[in-house]
Amino acid sequence: MTDQPIVVVHPDGDLLARATAARFLLTVIDAQSVTTPVHVALTGGSILVNVLRAIAEDPLREAVDWSNVHIWWGDERFVPAGDGDRNEVQAREALLDFLVAECGLPEENIHVMAGPGTNGIETADQSAKAYNEELAAFAPEGKSAPEFDLLLLGMGPDIHVASLFPGHAGLEVTGVAATGVQDSPKPPPTRVSLTFEAINQAKRVWIVAGGAEKADAVRAVLNNSPIAEAPAAGVAGTQETLLLLDAASAS
Ligand code: 6PG
Repeated sequence: MTDQPIVVVHPDGDLLARATAARFLLTVIDAQSVTTPVHVALTGGSILVNVLRAIAEDPLREAVDWSNVHIWWGDERFVPAGDGDRNEVQAREALLDFLVAECGLPEENIHVMAGPGTNGIETADQSAKAYNEELAAFAPEGKSAPEFDLLLLGMGPDIHVASLFPGHAGLEVTGVAATGVQDSPKPPPTRVSLTFEAINQAKRVWIVAGGAEKADAVRAVLNNSPIAEAPAAGVAGTQETLLLLDAASAS
C-alpha cells in the first residue's frame, strides 16, 4: 500500500455497523451529486451483513436515488444460486430485497457472480470470465472494471480481503478484474474474487473489521506487511482508503 489508510475507531460493533451505514449512505448521496450511475461493490461476512441491515434501517436511505445505483460484489462463494452461503443471498436478505421492493433499485442493477448451474457455468473460472465481461460493459475506456465509487471489504483474521488469501495464486493475477479461486483456506474452497487490479482502481475502499480476533490483522495492515502475508495491506482506493474498526479490533 502506498498511502496509510485513515483509521476510524467506533466504540463497539453495533456502532461500527450503524456509523458505517450512515457513512455509506452519505457517500452514495455525495457521489450521486457528482456523477451517475454510482457503482458500489459489496462483500460478505458477519460485519458487512450487519452494515447492510443498518443501511436498511437508516432513514437517510430515502435521500438516495437507488434507480441510479449499481451493486457488485468483491467476492462470492462458488455455490449454487439461492444457497444461503452466497454473499449475494445474505446481502439480498439483509438489504437488497428491500431496496428492490420499496426503494426503486432495479433488479437488473444487481450484478452477481454466477454460481454453478447458472447460465451453463460449471467452474469458478467460467464464472469469473462472465463477470469480467459484465464488469467490462460498465468500465471506462481502457479499464477492466468500473472505478467503483465505493468498495466495501471485510477482513479475515488471516488478513485476507475479498477472496485474496495469504500465499494464494489470486494475489498475483493481473490483466483481469475477476478471477476464479481454488483451495481457499476458508470454506467453501471454490470462490470468485475481484483482483487487486479491480480493487485498487476503486475511488473509495473501506475495510470494515470488528472484534479482538482482528487486532493482529489490523496491526499487520498498519505496519505495511508484505502483501503475500497480508493481502489487506495491498488495498488502496484512488481517492480514499479507510480502516473502519471497533475498539476491540483497534486494540
Ligand atoms: C467470505 C467472507 C469473508 C469475510 C471476512 C470477514 O467470503 O468468506 O466474505 O471474506 O468478509 O472473513 O468476515 P467477518 O465479518 O464475519 O469477520
